[in-house]
Amino acid sequence: MQELGGRVAVITGAASGFGREFARLGASQGMKLVLADVDREGLAALERELAGTPCITVLTDVSRAEDIANLAQRTMKEFGAAHLLFNNAGVGSGGLIWESSLADWQWVLGVNLWGVIHGVREFVPLMLAQDCECHIVNTASVAGLLSPPGMGVYNVSKHAVVTLSETLFHDLRLAGSKIGTSVLCPAFVPTGIHQSERNRPDELRNTEPLTASQRMARDATAKAVTSGRVTAAQVAELTFEAIRANRFYVLSHPKILDSVGLRLQDILALRNPSDPFTYKPGVAPRSGA
Ligand SMILES: NC(=O)c1ccc[n+]([C@@H]2O[C@H](COP(=O)([O-])OP(=O)(O)OC[C@H]3O[C@@H](n4cnc5c(N)ncnc54)[C@H](O)[C@@H]3O)[C@@H](O)[C@H]2O)c1
Repeated sequence: MQELGGRVAVITGAASGFGREFARLGASQGMKLVLADVDREGLAALERELAGTPCITVLTDVSRAEDIANLAQRTMKEFGAAHLLFNNAGVGSGGLIWESSLADWQWVLGVNLWGVIHGVREFVPLMLAQDCECHIVNTASVAGLLSPPGMGVYNVSKHAVVTLSETLFHDLRLAGSKIGTSVLCPAFVPTGIHQSERNRPDELRNTEPLTASQRMARDATAKAVTSGRVTAAQVAELTFEAIRANRFYVLSHPKILDSVGLRLQDILALRNPSDPFTYKPGVAPRSGA
C-alpha cells in the first residue's frame, strides 16, 4: 500500500506505546484515524494532541466481539471505509507456566489473540468488499517466534498471532485480494507494556499474591522494557516502511534472528529446545539435550 494520504487507519491499543506512534505517524501522512482503546483518558489526550487530523476515538475492549463490531460500524459511519488496520492492543504477564491462573490465560489470550481474531473477522470482509489496496498489521512479538522461559501465556498468545497472520497472508492470496499483511515482532521497547495490569478488568484480576516466579518475571520485564534502546517511534517508522513495501515480517531487533535460527535448527535436528535468552552466536547453546 503506497499511498496513505486520505486513507483511513484503524488502530487498536492506540492510547499508548506503539499504537500511539502509529497514530502520530498516520496523522503526519494525512491519514484519517480511528483510535480504539480501553483507556478513555489516553484516547482523549491523543485526540487533543492530533487536533486538525480527521479522527474519532472509540472506547473498545478488543477481547469482546461486540466491541470490535461496533468499532467497524463506527469506522464505516464516520469515514465510509477502512484501509489500514493495526490489530495492536496487547498485554503481558509472566511466571512459570503452571502457576498462571485461569484469569491470566483468559485476560492475555482475550486481548492478544481474540482481539486479533475479532479484528480479522470484522474488517477483512469490509476490505474485500471495498476491492481496493488495504493492509493489515498484527502486532505479535519476538515471543511469537521464540519460546523464552517464564513468559508462557504471553508466548502462546503471540505464537498464535504469528500463525494467524501467516495463514491470513496465504488466504488473502488465495482469494486474489488486494489486502497486504504484516506481522510486527518487536523485542523489548520502552512503552507501557510492563504496566499492563493498569488496564486489567476487575473480573479477571488475580486474588492470590504473586508467586516468586511471577515477581521475578515482572521485575525482569520491567527492566528489559525500560532499558530498551529502540524507541516505539522507530518501530512505527519501520512498520510504515513495511506497509509501503508490502513486507510481511517486521522485526525491530534483527539480531534476534540468530535465536530464531537456533530454534529452527533445534527442530530440524530433533534436538531439545535451547534457551533463547542465554544464546550467543559462536558460543555453544545451552540446550535441554
Ligand atoms: N513494548 C514491547 O517491548 C513489546 C514487545 C513485543 C510486542 N509488544 C506488543 O506491542 C503491542 C502494543 O503494546 P505496547 O508495547 O505499545 O504497550 P502499551 O501498554 O504502551 O500499549 C498497549 C495499549 O493496549 C491497550 N489495551 C490493553 N487492553 C486492551 C483491551 N482489552 N482492548 C483495547 N485496548 C487495550 C492499553 O490500554 C494500551 O493503550 C502489544 O500487542 C504488545 O504485546 C510490545
